[in-house]
Amino acid sequence: MNTNDFNPAASPLAPEWLELPADLNALHAPMWAAGVQRNNDGVLTVDGVSVDALKQEFGTPLFVMSESDFRARARSFKDAFDEAFADICGGVDVYYAGKSFLCTAVATWVADEGLRLDTCSGGELAVAERAGIPGENLSLHGNNKSDAEINRALDLNLGRIVVDSLDELERVAKIASSRGQKAKVMLRLTPGVHAHTHEFIATAHEDQKFGLSMAEDSTEEAGLSAAEEAVAAATSYDSVELLGLHCHIGSQIFEPDGFAVAAEKLLRFLAAMQDKYGITLPELDLGGGYGIAYTPVDTPRPPAEIAQAMAAVVRSTCAELGLVPPRISIEPGRAIVGSTTFTLYEAGTRKTVRVDAEAADGAVSAAGDAVNVTYPRRYVSVDGGMSDNARPVLYDADYSAVLASRTSAAVPALSRVVGKHCESGDIVVRDVYLPEDVAAGDLLAVPGTGAYCWALSSNYNYLARPGVVAVRDGAARLIVRGETEEDLLNRDMGA
Ligand code: LLP
Repeated sequence: MNTNDFNPAASPLAPEWLELPADLNALHAPMWAAGVQRNNDGVLTVDGVSVDALKQEFGTPLFVMSESDFRARARSFKDAFDEAFADICGGVDVYYAGKSFLCTAVATWVADEGLRLDTCSGGELAVAERAGIPGENLSLHGNNKSDAEINRALDLNLGRIVVDSLDELERVAKIASSRGQKAKVMLRLTPGVHAHTHEFIATAHEDQKFGLSMAEDSTEEAGLSAAEEAVAAATSYDSVELLGLHCHIGSQIFEPDGFAVAAEKLLRFLAAMQDKYGITLPELDLGGGYGIAYTPVDTPRPPAEIAQAMAAVVRSTCAELGLVPPRISIEPGRAIVGSTTFTLYEAGTRKTVRVDAEAADGAVSAAGDAVNVTYPRRYVSVDGGMSDNARPVLYDADYSAVLASRTSAAVPALSRVVGKHCESGDIVVRDVYLPEDVAAGDLLAVPGTGAYCWALSSNYNYLARPGVVAVRDGAARLIVRGETEEDLLNRDMGA
Protein backbone atom coordinates (compact mmCIF):
# COMPACT_ATOMS: atom_id res chain seq x y z
CA MET A 1 0.00 0.00 0.00
CA ASN A 2 1.29 3.43 -0.82
CA THR A 3 -0.03 6.04 1.58
CA ASN A 4 -0.17 9.25 -0.33
CA ASP A 5 -2.25 11.49 1.86
CA PHE A 6 -2.47 12.57 5.43
CA ASN A 7 -5.10 10.52 7.14
CA PRO A 8 -6.38 10.19 10.71
CA ALA A 9 -3.87 7.45 11.55
CA ALA A 10 -0.50 7.76 13.27
CA SER A 11 2.36 8.30 10.84
CA PRO A 12 5.07 5.65 10.55
CA LEU A 13 7.49 8.57 10.33
CA ALA A 14 6.68 9.71 13.86
CA PRO A 15 9.24 8.92 16.55
CA GLU A 16 8.18 6.24 18.99
CA TRP A 17 7.47 8.66 21.81
CA LEU A 18 5.07 10.85 19.83
CA GLU A 19 1.46 9.75 20.19
CA LEU A 20 -1.30 10.82 17.90
CA PRO A 21 -3.35 13.18 20.08
CA ALA A 22 -7.06 12.43 20.45
CA ASP A 23 -7.77 16.12 19.94
CA LEU A 24 -5.31 18.33 18.04
CA ASN A 25 -6.85 21.45 19.57
CA ALA A 26 -6.36 20.32 23.15
CA LEU A 27 -3.64 21.83 25.34
CA HIS A 28 -1.56 19.39 27.36
CA ALA A 29 -1.59 21.27 30.68
CA PRO A 30 1.92 20.43 32.03
CA MET A 31 3.50 22.17 29.03
CA TRP A 32 1.63 25.45 29.44
CA ALA A 33 1.40 28.31 31.89
CA ALA A 34 -1.70 28.25 34.08
CA GLY A 35 -4.07 30.75 32.52
CA VAL A 36 -3.42 29.65 28.92
CA GLN A 37 -6.59 28.37 27.31
CA ARG A 38 -8.76 28.73 24.22
CA ASN A 39 -11.60 31.26 24.21
CA ASN A 40 -15.04 30.55 22.75
CA ASP A 41 -13.72 31.29 19.27
CA GLY A 42 -10.96 28.73 19.72
CA VAL A 43 -8.24 31.40 19.93
CA LEU A 44 -5.43 30.83 22.42
CA THR A 45 -5.50 33.29 25.31
CA VAL A 46 -3.16 34.03 28.22
CA ASP A 47 -4.83 35.43 31.31
CA GLY A 48 -7.63 36.56 28.99
CA VAL A 49 -5.41 38.21 26.34
CA SER A 50 -5.74 36.59 22.91
CA VAL A 51 -2.83 35.75 20.67
CA ASP A 52 -4.55 37.76 17.92
CA ALA A 53 -4.42 40.85 20.09
CA LEU A 54 -0.77 40.13 21.01
CA LYS A 55 0.15 39.70 17.36
CA GLN A 56 -1.58 42.93 16.46
CA GLU A 57 0.08 44.98 19.18
CA PHE A 58 3.55 43.43 19.30
CA GLY A 59 4.03 41.41 16.11
CA THR A 60 5.65 38.00 15.78
CA PRO A 61 7.80 36.19 16.66
CA LEU A 62 7.09 37.04 20.27
CA PHE A 63 7.88 35.48 23.63
CA VAL A 64 4.64 35.50 25.63
CA MET A 65 5.10 35.07 29.36
CA SER A 66 2.51 34.78 32.09
CA GLU A 67 3.67 36.94 34.97
CA SER A 68 1.25 35.33 37.41
CA ASP A 69 2.46 31.87 36.42
CA PHE A 70 6.09 32.94 36.90
CA ARG A 71 5.31 34.31 40.34
CA ALA A 72 3.34 31.19 41.28
CA ARG A 73 6.15 28.84 40.21
CA ALA A 74 8.77 30.91 42.03
CA ARG A 75 6.65 30.87 45.18
CA SER A 76 5.91 27.18 44.93
CA PHE A 77 9.65 26.34 44.89
CA LYS A 78 10.26 28.59 47.86
CA ASP A 79 7.29 27.24 49.83
CA ALA A 80 7.91 23.57 49.00
CA PHE A 81 11.60 23.68 49.99
CA ASP A 82 10.96 25.85 53.06
CA GLU A 83 8.41 23.36 54.27
CA ALA A 84 10.48 20.24 53.55
CA PHE A 85 13.59 21.67 55.25
CA ALA A 86 11.89 23.59 58.06
CA ASP A 87 12.95 21.12 60.76
CA ILE A 88 16.44 20.65 59.28
CA CYS A 89 17.77 24.17 58.72
CA GLY A 90 14.76 26.46 59.12
CA GLY A 91 14.08 26.71 55.39
CA VAL A 92 15.93 27.06 52.12
CA ASP A 93 17.35 30.04 50.22
CA VAL A 94 16.13 29.78 46.63
CA TYR A 95 18.33 31.56 44.09
CA TYR A 96 16.61 31.95 40.73
CA ALA A 97 19.19 31.11 38.04
CA GLY A 98 19.15 34.28 35.95
CA LYS A 99 20.99 32.63 33.07
CA SER A 100 17.74 30.86 32.11
CA PHE A 101 16.03 34.20 31.46
CA LEU A 102 16.70 37.56 33.03
CA CYS A 103 15.46 41.11 32.62
CA THR A 104 14.71 43.85 35.12
CA ALA A 105 11.03 42.94 35.47
CA VAL A 106 11.80 39.28 36.16
CA ALA A 107 14.46 40.23 38.71
CA THR A 108 11.90 42.33 40.59
CA TRP A 109 9.32 39.50 40.55
CA VAL A 110 11.96 37.13 41.92
CA ALA A 111 12.65 39.52 44.80
CA ASP A 112 8.91 40.17 45.40
CA GLU A 113 8.31 36.45 45.81
CA GLY A 114 11.05 36.07 48.42
CA LEU A 115 13.72 34.50 46.20
CA ARG A 116 17.31 35.54 45.68
CA LEU A 117 19.12 35.83 42.37
CA ASP A 118 21.97 33.81 40.96
CA THR A 119 24.04 35.60 38.31
CA CYS A 120 26.96 34.40 36.21
CA SER A 121 28.39 37.51 34.59
CA GLY A 122 28.88 41.24 34.99
CA GLY A 123 25.96 41.77 32.61
CA GLU A 124 23.60 39.76 34.79
CA LEU A 125 24.86 41.66 37.84
CA ALA A 126 24.05 44.89 35.98
CA VAL A 127 20.44 43.74 35.54
CA ALA A 128 20.25 42.82 39.23
CA GLU A 129 21.62 46.23 40.19
CA ARG A 130 19.14 47.96 37.94
CA ALA A 131 16.32 45.99 39.57
CA GLY A 132 17.59 47.17 42.95
CA ILE A 133 18.31 43.70 44.35
CA PRO A 134 20.49 44.11 47.44
CA GLY A 135 23.95 42.59 47.06
CA GLU A 136 23.43 40.24 50.00
CA ASN A 137 20.69 38.46 47.99
CA LEU A 138 22.92 37.89 44.97
CA SER A 139 25.41 35.23 44.02
CA LEU A 140 27.98 35.23 41.24
CA HIS A 141 29.00 32.14 39.31
CA GLY A 142 31.37 31.54 36.42
CA ASN A 143 34.47 29.50 35.65
CA ASN A 144 36.37 32.49 34.32
CA LYS A 145 35.30 35.60 36.19
CA SER A 146 37.18 38.70 35.16
CA ASP A 147 38.86 40.98 37.68
CA ALA A 148 36.21 43.56 36.77
CA GLU A 149 33.45 41.09 37.62
CA ILE A 150 35.08 40.22 40.93
CA ASN A 151 35.48 43.92 41.72
CA ARG A 152 31.86 44.53 40.82
CA ALA A 153 30.79 41.72 43.14
CA LEU A 154 32.85 43.26 45.93
CA ASP A 155 31.45 46.74 45.18
CA LEU A 156 28.00 45.26 45.69
CA ASN A 157 29.06 43.35 48.84
CA LEU A 158 27.74 40.21 47.21
CA GLY A 159 26.16 37.58 49.44
CA ARG A 160 28.32 34.93 47.80
CA ILE A 161 30.93 34.56 45.11
CA VAL A 162 30.93 30.93 43.99
CA VAL A 163 34.58 30.19 43.35
CA ASP A 164 35.25 27.67 40.61
CA SER A 165 38.99 26.95 40.78
CA LEU A 166 42.13 27.28 42.88
CA ASP A 167 43.38 30.00 40.51
CA GLU A 168 40.27 32.00 41.02
CA LEU A 169 40.30 31.58 44.78
CA GLU A 170 43.72 33.17 44.89
CA ARG A 171 42.59 36.00 42.62
CA VAL A 172 39.46 36.72 44.67
CA ALA A 173 41.53 36.70 47.86
CA LYS A 174 44.07 39.13 46.38
CA ILE A 175 41.50 41.53 45.00
CA ALA A 176 39.49 41.52 48.24
CA SER A 177 42.67 42.03 50.25
CA SER A 178 43.74 45.00 48.11
CA ARG A 179 40.34 46.56 48.78
CA GLY A 180 40.51 45.83 52.52
CA GLN A 181 37.43 43.60 52.16
CA LYS A 182 36.45 40.08 53.08
CA ALA A 183 34.93 38.20 50.13
CA LYS A 184 32.08 35.82 50.98
CA VAL A 185 32.94 32.65 49.11
CA MET A 186 31.35 29.31 48.31
CA LEU A 187 33.44 26.60 46.65
CA ARG A 188 31.95 24.85 43.63
CA LEU A 189 32.77 21.17 43.84
CA THR A 190 32.26 18.46 41.26
CA PRO A 191 30.95 15.46 43.13
CA GLY A 192 31.23 13.11 40.13
CA VAL A 193 27.46 12.90 39.80
CA HIS A 194 26.03 13.75 36.41
CA ALA A 195 22.34 13.65 35.81
CA HIS A 196 20.28 14.06 32.73
CA THR A 197 16.55 13.58 32.61
CA HIS A 198 15.83 10.11 34.03
CA GLU A 199 19.32 8.85 34.68
CA PHE A 200 22.38 9.81 36.58
CA ILE A 201 25.87 8.47 36.57
CA ALA A 202 28.41 8.69 39.34
CA THR A 203 32.11 8.70 38.56
CA ALA A 204 35.17 9.39 40.64
CA HIS A 205 36.71 11.78 38.15
CA GLU A 206 35.64 14.98 36.51
CA ASP A 207 36.66 15.82 32.99
CA GLN A 208 34.94 19.16 32.53
CA LYS A 209 35.67 22.85 32.91
CA PHE A 210 33.58 23.57 35.99
CA GLY A 211 34.47 23.20 39.60
CA LEU A 212 36.93 21.69 41.99
CA SER A 213 37.32 17.93 41.79
CA MET A 214 36.65 15.83 44.87
CA ALA A 215 38.76 12.97 43.54
CA GLU A 216 41.65 12.35 45.91
CA ASP A 217 44.34 12.39 43.27
CA SER A 218 43.04 15.48 41.50
CA THR A 219 46.03 17.65 42.43
CA GLU A 220 49.75 17.18 42.48
CA GLU A 221 49.68 17.15 46.30
CA ALA A 222 49.50 13.42 46.90
CA GLY A 223 46.19 12.35 48.38
CA LEU A 224 44.68 15.80 48.53
CA SER A 225 41.73 16.60 46.30
CA ALA A 226 41.45 19.97 44.59
CA ALA A 227 38.34 20.53 46.69
CA GLU A 228 40.23 19.98 49.94
CA GLU A 229 43.15 22.09 48.79
CA ALA A 230 40.67 24.90 48.13
CA VAL A 231 39.09 24.55 51.58
CA ALA A 232 42.53 24.69 53.19
CA ALA A 233 43.57 27.70 51.12
CA ALA A 234 40.29 29.56 51.63
CA THR A 235 40.54 29.24 55.40
CA SER A 236 44.08 30.57 55.31
CA TYR A 237 43.18 33.88 53.61
CA ASP A 238 42.22 36.79 55.87
CA SER A 239 40.34 38.34 52.97
CA VAL A 240 38.06 35.33 52.42
CA GLU A 241 35.08 34.21 54.46
CA LEU A 242 34.37 30.63 53.44
CA LEU A 243 30.60 30.20 53.68
CA GLY A 244 30.36 26.68 52.39
CA LEU A 245 30.15 24.32 49.44
CA HIS A 246 28.25 24.20 46.19
CA CYS A 247 27.45 21.69 43.45
CA HIS A 248 25.29 21.58 40.33
CA ILE A 249 24.87 18.18 38.74
CA GLY A 250 23.09 18.93 35.47
CA SER A 251 19.92 20.22 33.91
CA GLN A 252 16.45 18.97 32.88
CA ILE A 253 16.53 16.27 35.57
CA PHE A 254 13.32 14.49 36.57
CA GLU A 255 14.36 11.98 39.22
CA PRO A 256 15.62 13.18 42.61
CA ASP A 257 18.19 10.34 43.02
CA GLY A 258 21.12 12.26 41.51
CA PHE A 259 20.49 15.27 43.77
CA ALA A 260 20.31 12.95 46.77
CA VAL A 261 23.62 11.23 45.96
CA ALA A 262 25.35 14.59 45.45
CA ALA A 263 23.87 16.00 48.67
CA GLU A 264 25.11 13.05 50.67
CA LYS A 265 28.57 13.23 49.14
CA LEU A 266 28.90 16.95 49.86
CA LEU A 267 27.62 16.59 53.41
CA ARG A 268 30.19 13.89 54.16
CA PHE A 269 32.93 16.07 52.73
CA LEU A 270 31.68 19.11 54.61
CA ALA A 271 31.70 17.20 57.89
CA ALA A 272 35.21 15.88 57.20
CA MET A 273 36.53 19.37 56.40
CA GLN A 274 34.96 20.85 59.55
CA ASP A 275 36.63 18.19 61.67
CA LYS A 276 40.00 18.32 59.97
CA TYR A 277 40.39 22.09 59.78
CA GLY A 278 38.39 23.06 62.86
CA ILE A 279 36.11 25.30 60.84
CA THR A 280 32.36 25.75 60.42
CA LEU A 281 30.90 25.73 56.93
CA PRO A 282 27.39 27.06 57.48
CA GLU A 283 26.02 26.75 53.94
CA LEU A 284 25.47 24.09 51.27
CA ASP A 285 24.07 24.85 47.81
CA LEU A 286 22.71 21.95 45.80
CA GLY A 287 22.33 23.83 42.50
CA GLY A 288 19.48 23.71 40.01
CA GLY A 289 18.49 21.38 37.22
CA TYR A 290 14.85 20.41 37.85
CA GLY A 291 13.14 19.29 34.63
CA ILE A 292 10.03 20.58 32.86
CA ALA A 293 7.62 19.21 30.25
CA TYR A 294 8.59 20.11 26.69
CA THR A 295 6.45 17.37 25.16
CA PRO A 296 3.60 15.20 26.49
CA VAL A 297 6.02 12.41 27.44
CA ASP A 298 7.97 14.56 29.90
CA THR A 299 6.69 14.06 33.43
CA PRO A 300 8.30 16.49 35.85
CA ARG A 301 7.80 16.01 39.58
CA PRO A 302 6.15 18.72 41.65
CA PRO A 303 8.68 20.79 43.67
CA ALA A 304 7.31 19.36 46.95
CA GLU A 305 8.20 15.82 45.91
CA ILE A 306 11.77 16.75 44.97
CA ALA A 307 12.16 18.86 48.10
CA GLN A 308 11.01 16.03 50.36
CA ALA A 309 13.31 13.50 48.70
CA MET A 310 16.28 15.84 49.12
CA ALA A 311 15.31 16.73 52.68
CA ALA A 312 15.13 13.05 53.63
CA VAL A 313 18.74 12.50 52.54
CA VAL A 314 20.04 15.66 54.20
CA ARG A 315 18.20 14.76 57.42
CA SER A 316 19.48 11.17 57.58
CA THR A 317 23.05 11.99 56.52
CA CYS A 318 23.35 14.77 59.11
CA ALA A 319 21.93 12.48 61.79
CA GLU A 320 24.36 9.72 60.89
CA LEU A 321 27.33 12.10 60.94
CA GLY A 322 26.17 14.00 64.02
CA LEU A 323 26.41 17.10 61.86
CA VAL A 324 24.57 20.35 62.56
CA PRO A 325 22.81 20.74 59.20
CA PRO A 326 24.13 23.60 57.10
CA ARG A 327 21.66 26.14 55.65
CA ILE A 328 20.58 24.66 52.32
CA SER A 329 20.17 26.68 49.12
CA ILE A 330 19.14 25.74 45.57
CA GLU A 331 19.33 27.43 42.16
CA PRO A 332 16.40 26.53 39.90
CA GLY A 333 16.10 28.37 36.59
CA ARG A 334 14.28 26.33 33.96
CA ALA A 335 11.72 24.88 36.39
CA ILE A 336 10.61 28.38 37.37
CA VAL A 337 10.59 30.17 34.02
CA GLY A 338 10.46 27.44 31.35
CA SER A 339 6.75 26.70 31.25
CA THR A 340 5.65 30.29 31.92
CA THR A 341 6.33 31.23 28.31
CA PHE A 342 5.40 30.23 24.79
CA THR A 343 6.74 31.59 21.54
CA LEU A 344 4.17 32.94 19.14
CA TYR A 345 5.07 32.58 15.47
CA GLU A 346 3.24 33.27 12.24
CA ALA A 347 3.20 30.39 9.79
CA GLY A 348 4.41 31.07 6.28
CA THR A 349 5.36 28.72 3.49
CA ARG A 350 4.58 25.05 3.79
CA LYS A 351 5.44 22.03 1.77
CA THR A 352 4.94 18.31 1.95
CA VAL A 353 7.75 15.90 1.30
CA ARG A 354 7.53 12.16 0.98
CA VAL A 355 9.84 10.15 3.13
CA ASP A 356 10.76 6.50 3.06
CA ALA A 357 9.83 5.24 6.51
CA GLU A 358 13.10 3.29 6.67
CA ALA A 359 15.03 6.44 6.05
CA ALA A 360 13.22 8.60 8.57
CA ASP A 361 14.99 9.40 11.84
CA GLY A 362 14.14 6.81 14.42
CA ALA A 363 11.16 5.51 12.47
CA VAL A 364 10.51 1.86 11.93
CA SER A 365 8.46 0.70 9.01
CA ALA A 366 5.60 -1.68 9.66
CA ALA A 367 6.44 -5.32 9.01
CA GLY A 368 6.05 -6.24 5.38
CA ASP A 369 6.24 -2.69 4.02
CA ALA A 370 8.05 -2.46 0.74
CA VAL A 371 11.24 -0.41 0.97
CA ASN A 372 9.91 2.22 -1.38
CA VAL A 373 6.75 3.00 0.57
CA THR A 374 6.79 6.68 1.39
CA TYR A 375 4.79 8.77 3.81
CA PRO A 376 4.10 12.46 3.85
CA ARG A 377 5.82 14.91 6.14
CA ARG A 378 4.60 18.47 6.28
CA TYR A 379 7.12 21.30 6.67
CA VAL A 380 5.64 24.48 8.12
CA SER A 381 7.96 27.50 8.12
CA VAL A 382 7.63 30.18 10.76
CA ASP A 383 8.95 33.73 10.99
CA GLY A 384 11.71 32.95 13.52
CA GLY A 385 13.76 29.84 14.20
CA MET A 386 17.20 28.98 15.52
CA SER A 387 17.90 32.65 16.31
CA ASP A 388 15.12 32.67 18.94
CA ASN A 389 15.39 29.00 19.95
CA ALA A 390 18.79 27.43 19.52
CA ARG A 391 17.99 24.45 21.75
CA PRO A 392 16.84 22.03 19.03
CA VAL A 393 20.07 22.68 17.13
CA LEU A 394 22.33 22.72 20.18
CA TYR A 395 20.86 19.88 22.19
CA ASP A 396 18.50 18.02 19.85
CA ALA A 397 15.79 19.33 22.15
CA ASP A 398 12.22 18.34 21.37
CA TYR A 399 9.38 20.82 21.53
CA SER A 400 5.70 20.79 20.76
CA ALA A 401 3.37 23.24 19.02
CA VAL A 402 -0.30 24.02 18.52
CA LEU A 403 -2.32 26.01 16.06
CA ALA A 404 -3.04 29.06 18.20
CA SER A 405 -5.19 31.47 16.17
CA ARG A 406 -8.07 29.04 15.65
CA THR A 407 -9.12 25.47 16.10
CA SER A 408 -9.34 23.04 13.24
CA ALA A 409 -11.16 19.83 12.46
CA ALA A 410 -8.67 18.84 9.75
CA VAL A 411 -6.84 15.51 9.86
CA PRO A 412 -3.51 15.39 11.67
CA ALA A 413 -0.43 15.96 9.55
CA LEU A 414 2.89 14.83 10.94
CA SER A 415 4.67 18.16 10.76
CA ARG A 416 8.08 19.70 11.22
CA VAL A 417 8.05 23.34 12.25
CA VAL A 418 11.10 25.03 10.80
CA GLY A 419 12.57 28.51 10.96
CA LYS A 420 13.51 30.95 8.22
CA HIS A 421 17.28 30.72 8.55
CA CYS A 422 19.65 29.65 5.82
CA GLU A 423 20.45 26.39 7.45
CA SER A 424 18.71 23.06 7.02
CA GLY A 425 19.15 22.20 10.71
CA ASP A 426 17.01 25.23 11.59
CA ILE A 427 14.23 23.24 13.22
CA VAL A 428 11.89 24.57 15.89
CA VAL A 429 9.77 21.46 16.46
CA ARG A 430 11.10 18.27 14.92
CA ASP A 431 7.94 16.17 15.16
CA VAL A 432 4.41 17.26 15.99
CA TYR A 433 0.94 16.51 14.68
CA LEU A 434 -0.65 19.73 13.44
CA PRO A 435 -3.97 20.06 11.64
CA GLU A 436 -3.43 19.44 7.93
CA ASP A 437 -4.97 22.81 7.01
CA VAL A 438 -2.40 24.94 8.89
CA ALA A 439 -1.47 27.57 6.34
CA ALA A 440 0.26 30.91 5.87
CA GLY A 441 -1.09 33.54 8.25
CA ASP A 442 -2.03 31.08 10.99
CA LEU A 443 -0.40 31.62 14.36
CA LEU A 444 1.49 28.78 16.01
CA ALA A 445 2.43 28.62 19.69
CA VAL A 446 5.42 26.65 20.94
CA PRO A 447 5.24 26.12 24.74
CA GLY A 448 8.09 25.76 27.21
CA THR A 449 10.31 28.46 25.71
CA GLY A 450 10.83 30.52 28.88
CA ALA A 451 14.27 29.12 29.69
CA TYR A 452 17.42 29.25 27.55
CA CYS A 453 15.63 30.50 24.43
CA TRP A 454 15.60 34.31 24.59
CA ALA A 455 18.75 33.92 26.71
CA LEU A 456 20.52 32.06 23.90
CA SER A 457 19.05 34.12 21.05
CA SER A 458 21.18 35.54 18.26
CA ASN A 459 20.99 37.79 15.23
CA TYR A 460 21.91 35.06 12.78
CA ASN A 461 21.02 36.12 9.25
CA TYR A 462 20.37 39.63 10.63
CA LEU A 463 17.10 38.67 12.20
CA ALA A 464 15.99 41.00 14.97
CA ARG A 465 15.63 39.27 18.32
CA PRO A 466 11.99 39.06 19.43
CA GLY A 467 10.55 40.98 22.33
CA VAL A 468 9.17 39.47 25.52
CA VAL A 469 5.67 40.35 26.65
CA ALA A 470 4.37 39.74 30.18
CA VAL A 471 0.67 39.16 30.61
CA ARG A 472 -1.05 39.64 33.94
CA ASP A 473 -4.70 40.22 34.89
CA GLY A 474 -5.83 40.65 31.31
CA ALA A 475 -3.13 43.18 30.37
CA ALA A 476 0.02 42.68 28.31
CA ARG A 477 3.18 44.78 28.55
CA LEU A 478 6.57 44.55 26.93
CA ILE A 479 9.27 43.63 29.42
CA VAL A 480 11.94 43.34 26.73
CA ARG A 481 11.47 45.32 23.53
CA GLY A 482 12.04 43.42 20.33
CA GLU A 483 14.93 44.61 18.20
CA THR A 484 14.41 46.71 15.13
CA GLU A 485 16.43 46.92 11.94
CA GLU A 486 17.83 50.13 13.32
CA ASP A 487 19.09 48.30 16.39
CA LEU A 488 20.83 45.87 14.08
CA LEU A 489 22.51 48.62 12.08
CA ASN A 490 23.40 50.76 15.09
CA ARG A 491 26.58 48.94 15.96
CA ASP A 492 27.74 48.62 12.36
CA MET A 493 30.25 51.48 12.14
CA GLY A 494 29.74 51.99 8.43
CA ALA A 495 32.11 51.95 5.48
N1 LLP B 1 23.21 26.65 38.87
C1 LLP B 1 24.28 26.49 38.09
C2 LLP B 1 25.62 26.55 38.66
C3 LLP B 1 24.11 26.25 36.72
O1 LLP B 1 25.18 26.08 35.94
C4 LLP B 1 22.81 26.20 36.18
C5 LLP B 1 22.59 25.96 34.76
C6 LLP B 1 21.71 26.38 37.03
C7 LLP B 1 21.96 26.61 38.38
C8 LLP B 1 20.29 26.37 36.56
O2 LLP B 1 19.92 25.16 36.00
P1 LLP B 1 18.39 24.89 35.62
O3 LLP B 1 17.62 24.82 36.88
O4 LLP B 1 17.93 26.05 34.80
O5 LLP B 1 18.43 23.63 34.87
N2 LLP B 1 21.44 25.89 27.98
C9 LLP B 1 21.13 24.57 28.49
C10 LLP B 1 21.15 24.54 29.98
C11 LLP B 1 22.41 25.06 30.54
C12 LLP B 1 22.37 25.05 32.01
C13 LLP B 1 23.50 25.83 32.54
N3 LLP B 1 23.55 25.88 33.95
C14 LLP B 1 19.77 24.17 28.00
O6 LLP B 1 19.13 24.97 27.35
O7 LLP B 1 19.32 23.05 28.23
